Amino acid sequence: MKILKSIAEIRAYGKAVAGTLGFVPTMGALHPGHLSLVERSRNETDLTVVSIYVNPTQFNNPNDLANYPETLTVDLQMLEAAGVSAVFMPTYELLYPDDYAYEVDEKQFSKELCGENRPGHFTGVLTVVMKLLNLVKPQKAYFGEKDFQQLSLVKGMVEAFFLETEIIGCPIIREDDGLAMSSRNLNLSRCDRRKAPLFCRLLSNPKWSDEHLKARLVRAGFEVDYVLTKGSRRFGAVVMGDPAAPVRLIDNVEVVS
Ligand code: PAF
Repeated sequence: MKILKSIAEIRAYGKAVAGTLGFVPTMGALHPGHLSLVERSRNETDLTVVSIYVNPTQFNNPNDLANYPETLTVDLQMLEAAGVSAVFMPTYELLYPDDYAYEVDEKQFSKELCGENRPGHFTGVLTVVMKLLNLVKPQKAYFGEKDFQQLSLVKGMVEAFFLETEIIGCPIIREDDGLAMSSRNLNLSRCDRRKAPLFCRLLSNPKWSDEHLKARLVRAGFEVDYVLTKGSRRFGAVVMGDPAAPVRLIDNVEVVS
């Protein structure tokens, strides 16, 4: 498995590939959800590149950035065992030569749901994904449906800017107790980890209105950021834990009433 750190290396890698290239962008702290994206890419393309980069421009809260889990040594072992061909690990200086003077902003859906209380979050996500797609130039890129809003915004950006990568959404991978796998779960206290699956269980009840569900979540001790049903999908975000180092959980489920 090659470790690519410079812009020249990642560009040269993409150009030298004879077959199709699949790409899985990550911020590290990898879990089986990420590995399911890698596996899908390995099944559908000839070579898979993964990026590991904790993108500061998508964090609107400096504490959240400072507390973001880092497990690099294990991540690299997992990726090697999963058959990844190359890992791209850039720095801020390399990815943002403009010091974030240029950005990709979506003016509608990115301001709702997770965008409402996290101003600038999706602008940071879209900007870094645009940069990564331009550097890696994959035929296919894989994103998890846990971040459903991110997935649809990335799809929209690719269409709007005529990018040549196909964006593929992959199902949420859950723990046995139903909690959606997320790097941030590592930051849950033992007590909050025990309580966290209740979020998904309550979210999945098709009989409750969004308002009723919100009240039930609050009663269960969650701080609710939002609960909103759009079409046949219900989206939710809650915050748990110490206010000095809160852990934000997001999830979404298909609701058929
Ligand atoms: O989903 C993530 O881990 C990040 O938002 C992404 C897509 C790697 C961009 O930094």
